[in-house]
Amino acid sequence: MATEAKDKFFSGYEEARQAGKIIDYYNDKASVYNEALEQAGYTDTTLFCSNLLKEYLSAERGENKIAQLEILDLGCGSGLTGVALQKVGFKLVDGVDPADKMLQVAREKSVYRNLSNGIITDTEKLSCFQDELYDGLLCGGCFTVGHIKFNNGMPEVLRVLRKGGVAVYTISSKMDSAVILNEHMPFFLRKQCEMLRVEKRFYYSGSNDKSYCDVYVIKKL
Ligand SMILES: C[S@@+](CC[C@H](N)C(=O)[O-])C[C@H]1O[C@@H](n2cnc3c(N)ncnc32)[C@H](O)[C@@H]1O
Repeated sequence: MATEAKDKFFSGYEEARQAGKIIDYYNDKASVYNEALEQAGYTDTTLFCSNLLKEYLSAERGENKIAQLEILDLGCGSGLTGVALQKVGFKLVDGVDPADKMLQVAREKSVYRNLSNGIITDTEKLSCFQDELYDGLLCGGCFTVGHIKFNNGMPEVLRVLRKGGVAVYTISSKMDSAVILNEHMPFFLRKQCEMLRVEKRFYYSGSNDKSYCDVYVIKKL
């Protein structure tokens, strides 16, 4: 059946993320994730985000510099985002994710320079990375229920970016967008970053419904 992988992936997804068991879940479903999310139309989102990163980094650093820029794929999973980043011209892409089985699949894609195991929680940060290592950062599918909390993730995004660096990230429309916008405010007011764009768009089709996300583009000041 055409949507077999998609059904296999999404069955139990809501329960796992509500129960705080999302890493185990991704490890269990790593072998079907890429096919499932392709069936769900999510690769349009990864390509859209990668193109945005290219567009805004071209403006910041120069169009002819794209292949030399260092990019972090935060929550890279099994490499769909890395594939999209490579497709638009990035060549120096590192990935980080807490699910080893997802990282194993990502490794087979041969699109990453380095892959690391790392997680962002209330108590854990990306200790595998020093400050200001990256020109660009993509975080697709991770600022959502049961994954990375915005208030934990954003300081890490800003810490690992170089000055003038650009981050593109999706925030699921399942999150309250007014709350999320409010959570951005301290970072803007402290002049740590500025917002370049925010746009609501199609995210993926789950088992029974369509999901939407807000795609944010910010620049580190
Ligand atoms: C929907 S997948 C997205 C993977 C990839 N970015 C993509 O777009 O295909 C979400 C990823 O977030 C990772 N993740 C979940 N919680 C996380 C956390 N607290 N810190 C870092 N990554 C997390 C999961 O392991 C999973 O690979």
